[in-house]
Amino acid sequence: MSQATKLSASALKYYFEQDEVAKPCGKTLIVQGTPGTWLDYLECDTPDVLSYLANENAQWQQAGVTPLQNSDEKYDLIIHFATKFATENLSSLGKLSQQLNPNGRWISVVPNKMGASRLKKDIKKLFNEVETCSKSKCRIFDTYSTIDAPLARKWASLGKIKAIKDTEFLTTPGIFSAEKIDKGSQLLAEILKKESFYGSGADLGAGYGFLSKSVLETPRNRIREIVLYELDKRALDCAQQNLADHDKTLFQWCDVTAGTHHERKFDWVVMNPPFHEAQDQSYELGKTFIREAARILKPGGGLYLVANLHLPYEELIRTEFRSHKLLGEENGFKCIFARA
Ligand SMILES: C[S@@+](CC[C@H](N)C(=O)[O-])C[C@H]1O[C@@H](n2cnc3c(N)ncnc32)[C@H](O)[C@@H]1O
Repeated sequence: MSQATKLSASALKYYFEQDEVAKPCGKTLIVQGTPGTWLDYLECDTPDVLSYLANENAQWQQAGVTPLQNSDEKYDLIIHFATKFATENLSSLGKLSQQLNPNGRWISVVPNKMGASRLKKDIKKLFNEVETCSKSKCRIFDTYSTIDAPLARKWASLGKIKAIKDTEFLTTPGIFSAEKIDKGSQLLAEILKKESFYGSGADLGAGYGFLSKSVLETPRNRIREIVLYELDKRALDCAQQNLADHDKTLFQWCDVTAGTHHERKFDWVVMNPPFHEAQDQSYELGKTFIREAARILKPGGGLYLVANLHLPYEELIRTEFRSHKLLGEENGFKCIFARA
């Protein structure tokens, strides 16, 4: 569970335990949260849950709920865990607020440091009246108000899958680098173009498939298969569309930190490992990706990695791999090749 989701879940618990706050009840939809003791306050049958991240999905499954990735049903209550992506929040607000029953209740929760002021402005534009409350370093917005229906429809349309400007890559709000190609990935792709690929490979944290496409389009490659491992189902669905012209692809919705599964080891791995959380000074997330790459490579296999210059991955790479070299460095990024 991310630090932000933990904060939001604890804020909801403190919020609902207040006597003056109306009990959350009726047919309920939870948008992108995680289970926890806050659920004890819900007075409803099993809620519907929208979840796109494999790790959060697994937590809901353990709590006895099978999440959905889409719902067009109507609800009495929608509890929205807002994210750091403003456009994603707008599209969730727009689409889902239209799914409230008459007199339905909307609750959004967001950590203060994750765009709470922006969300407050947006929520106040959509709903006529909103109660605001601060708890556990989070803001909670609670309303039974009617919505501005034309605005809701406009915001809902922001959630459509569309191509990044001047490219053919399809993305959707909320996934990594949805509005422009990441500079680090771009640098690695330029380097990958000059390499020769064969056999089977993996793309760890594949996003919408940018690096995989770069590898698959290298001239004269003899690639047998490439497995794309990605946490976010929406990104993986985009990857599937972006790589529709290639038939050597496999798509795995999974949490790489929980271990990847494949019957054979790989000849090569490409990755732009995910950002650590700001609080994590040990950079554990990226390091776990590097350990996983070392585990799934055949002896002699190669890892191509791009990372922000300041990330201290070299010591771990020295421990996990036989050798490594710097392939390039530009715009605050470094590309490394490591031999297993
Ligand atoms: C820096 S982005 C790179 C995306 C893509 N490879 C590219 O170059 O555009 C890292 C990706 O890792 C994914 N990710 C984050 N944590 C993950 C995890 N635990 N398991 C699998 N993927 C993860 C993110 O959703 C994101 O798409």
